[in-house]
Amino acid sequence: MSAASKYIVFLLTGIFSCWFANAFADVSLQNLRCEMLKDPQGIGTTQPRLSWQINSDERNTQQTAYEIIVASSPQKLASNIGDLWDSHKVMSDRSIMVNYAGRPLASRAACYWKVKGWTTKGESPWSQPAFWSVGLLNAADWKAKWIGYEHGFPWDSVSKFSRLSARYYRKQFQTSQQVKKAVVYIVGLGHYELYINGKAIGDQVLAEAPTDYTQSVLYNTFDVTANLQQGENVIGTVLGNGRFFTMRPKYKPNKIKEFGFPKMLLQLELTYQDGSKKVITSDDSWKFTADGPIRTNNEYDGEEYDATKELTDWNVVGYDDRKWLKPELVEAHGGKVEAQMNEPIKIVDTIHPVSIKQLKPGTWIMDMGQNMAGWVQMKVRGKRGDKVTLRFAETLKEDSDLYIANLRDAKVTDIYTLKGGGEEIWHPVFVYHGFRYVQITGYPGTPTVDDFIGQVVSDNMANTGHFETSNPLINQVYHNAYWGILSDYKGMPVDCPQRNERMPWLGDRAIGSLGESFVFNNENLYAKWLDDIEQSQKPDGSIPDVAPAYWNYYSDNMTWPGTYILIADMLYNQFADKGPIAKHYPSMKKWLGYMRQKYAKDNLMTKDKYGDWCVPPESPELIHSRDSSRNTNGVLIATAYYYRLLLLMQHFAKILNKPADAQQFAAQSLQAKNAFNQKFLDKKTLQYDNNTVTANLLPLYFDMVPAADRKGVFNNIVNKITIDANSHISTGVIGTQWLMRGLTDFGRPDIAYHIAANDDYPSWGYMVKRGATTIWELWNGDTAAPAMNSRNHIMLLGDLIAWFYQDLGGIKADEPGFKTIVMKPATVNGLNYVNASYTTPYGLVKSNWKKQSGHFDWTITIPANSKAIVYLPAYKVSDITCDGKALSTLSGAKTLFDDNGETKLEIGSGDYHFEINNYGK
Ligand code: BGC
Repeated sequence: MSAASKYIVFLLTGIFSCWFANAFADVSLQNLRCEMLKDPQGIGTTQPRLSWQINSDERNTQQTAYEIIVASSPQKLASNIGDLWDSHKVMSDRSIMVNYAGRPLASRAACYWKVKGWTTKGESPWSQPAFWSVGLLNAADWKAKWIGYEHGFPWDSVSKFSRLSARYYRKQFQTSQQVKKAVVYIVGLGHYELYINGKAIGDQVLAEAPTDYTQSVLYNTFDVTANLQQGENVIGTVLGNGRFFTMRPKYKPNKIKEFGFPKMLLQLELTYQDGSKKVITSDDSWKFTADGPIRTNNEYDGEEYDATKELTDWNVVGYDDRKWLKPELVEAHGGKVEAQMNEPIKIVDTIHPVSIKQLKPGTWIMDMGQNMAGWVQMKVRGKRGDKVTLRFAETLKEDSDLYIANLRDAKVTDIYTLKGGGEEIWHPVFVYHGFRYVQITGYPGTPTVDDFIGQVVSDNMANTGHFETSNPLINQVYHNAYWGILSDYKGMPVDCPQRNERMPWLGDRAIGSLGESFVFNNENLYAKWLDDIEQSQKPDGSIPDVAPAYWNYYSDNMTWPGTYILIADMLYNQFADKGPIAKHYPSMKKWLGYMRQKYAKDNLMTKDKYGDWCVPPESPELIHSRDSSRNTNGVLIATAYYYRLLLLMQHFAKILNKPADAQQFAAQSLQAKNAFNQKFLDKKTLQYDNNTVTANLLPLYFDMVPAADRKGVFNNIVNKITIDANSHISTGVIGTQWLMRGLTDFGRPDIAYHIAANDDYPSWGYMVKRGATTIWELWNGDTAAPAMNSRNHIMLLGDLIAWFYQDLGGIKADEPGFKTIVMKPATVNGLNYVNASYTTPYGLVKSNWKKQSGHFDWTITIPANSKAIVYLPAYKVSDITCDGKALSTLSGAKTLFDDNGETKLEIGSGDYHFEINNYGK
């Protein structure tokens, strides 16, 4: 391609297109969100950020202005009276994260809002109305008292393997007039269920989200106006243990944090028609019992429910609670009471079992067909006192019974005792299990698949991505990843859902969180997790490997705690959420300063803990490799991450306008880079240290390698993979975080694809071939010892899912939040098509490509108010058509030039169908 043909700039503004657009455009605003949530109740801020999406049937739709109205009532909103805020027409293309700037909001404020937009394709009508309410912002807003009972009962056992029954609380109260509005604020530790007049409030389960309760507790808010009746009413709650009353008290006191017995803070605020108010609060006028049907509930061990102990009608008016006890007024546990701003956990999916087989008389094995996290709902008929036991596991032994060795001492057993007299339907409420198989014993009669349903329990996040290719193996790997990600969201990202662990390990999510963000809208969860991490920071700056620090692991290293900084960066790039960077900057800086001061020696970071965790080991039964040629030097890993994190901090300092800090981070990073190269780079061989893929990849991907040596270092990576590892994976949790994108960025997406498409050991495909329906903790999960061998762990995904979307799909954020999108698919040999779509903050991006003997076909969608830089795999512009017409006739496309055998185009929003002739020629 001649130099002259480069940068052929053409500006095509179709002569009539503007005129037609204004005349006929159909532009509307939809999906209004406040703090990224739909109509949230009880938010914890008075300056929420508002976002909307623009729907347009025209290409090149850009917002030019907006107007937001926020009113204190729906009537005012309908009459366009913005008594809280009328932004008036603001000339701006901003449609996400617009700061509320109206009248100061106080606790309990109810805000009704709508928005209208002006765009390059015409004006939208007002959006549908949306809502938010403010929660209780100040400690003084809480009139309620903490109530609980700080002892076990005779049927409980507060031992190493605790058994604690659920506690049932009730309070009857009167309303003297018709209620205009009723709102409940509740903290029920560890988990609660809430009822009013016998009806469950909300469809959340395992509420509220877990925290380090000594630092903060989260409350949930519900509008219950419709649930109240004039006269007598009853409010009832059930408290389960969750993480508050830990699963393993007195087990390893130095390791496992304990918080105490379940407790509750509840406030029901009523406003009557005449404006007068009444508040019902938790206090010692309530009654409670622990002698109900939930005899024990423990996340590791399971739930036992005795239906003969049911407290019929306990949560409606008229129940005789004279025998119930008076709760104790208990101490608050020190943490701030804050609004939960991440999505609640819900039953997000259901699974029908594929088979039930009798193992021996009375023992059945049920196969869900999918490793999942949640529970089983059972239908059963039998005699009063019959006991059905359900035990859960991920795999089976050779004799077809459950394989439980890898669950360690988690008992994962639910027991249901029948009350008799008809059909009974039951599922536990305060536990979850990670399982594919269920062993059923004691079932009266013959269980069938129709008697059971798997209920998948996870954070109720919107599903944002779709990914599919012409290679079924890759699709199955994606499916496995999807189920793994879903399994491990529990109000915090946990490592696994099945064994006696389920801990929020930081290192597992460093880059995984980016891939996950394409699959689920995990923005609020990860923003919440950064708060958990900050709250776990010690006064000296140390950050643990697990946060909330339910397990006490302050080992001080770069790779696990560094996730704190990497995720703030992810939230900014993927969602344009600057909040976490601003909020956590001081704590991040403090942590890096602490590490530098304590462990940096001659500008190398000397402290590491986990190395390149879980590389494929030299022999099949091993969990960790002992072979020094497979493992990567800890100082190398730590220093490379240190460098990367310093640069991110430099970036953050710039975003926050802190030039002096930026300069300091830059200077420190330069020192680290120089020391690193001096120590680890062999100038002759261009190998870093022992020449593992991870040792060479980290400096290369992090841009630490002297420019002249990059090619040589990359060659070492290529040789190591293609020759030594026979084009297989040789990296662990650390190297795999950068591997697929690294290979692709440096020009070898074909090797990345080879690794992804392998089905022999070690590979993700190998797991599939061995029957996995999720991702394993170990590459050799089928042969390794059980001590640390979960079959549902997502840390080995590394950057695979990010690579699927960003490189195979070719959908990448160029400006934060996908305001500008880079569309650049790696159209690797071996794949005939990829269909990828992703809902960005602006709306849906789609990239569906296929190729067939010299022809390339690409359908894309760019959401309104964003634009895309599109790379078309064609040397000659004349080979490209859009919607069947020569590319040169495409209106609104801005610049065009060829770049490395590709044609680069800047386009606005809308749907496009590109075709390329002479593809690959
Ligand atoms: C966890 C991992 C974690 C690792 C670190 C394991 O037990 O399951 O997910 O990152 O420990 O030590």
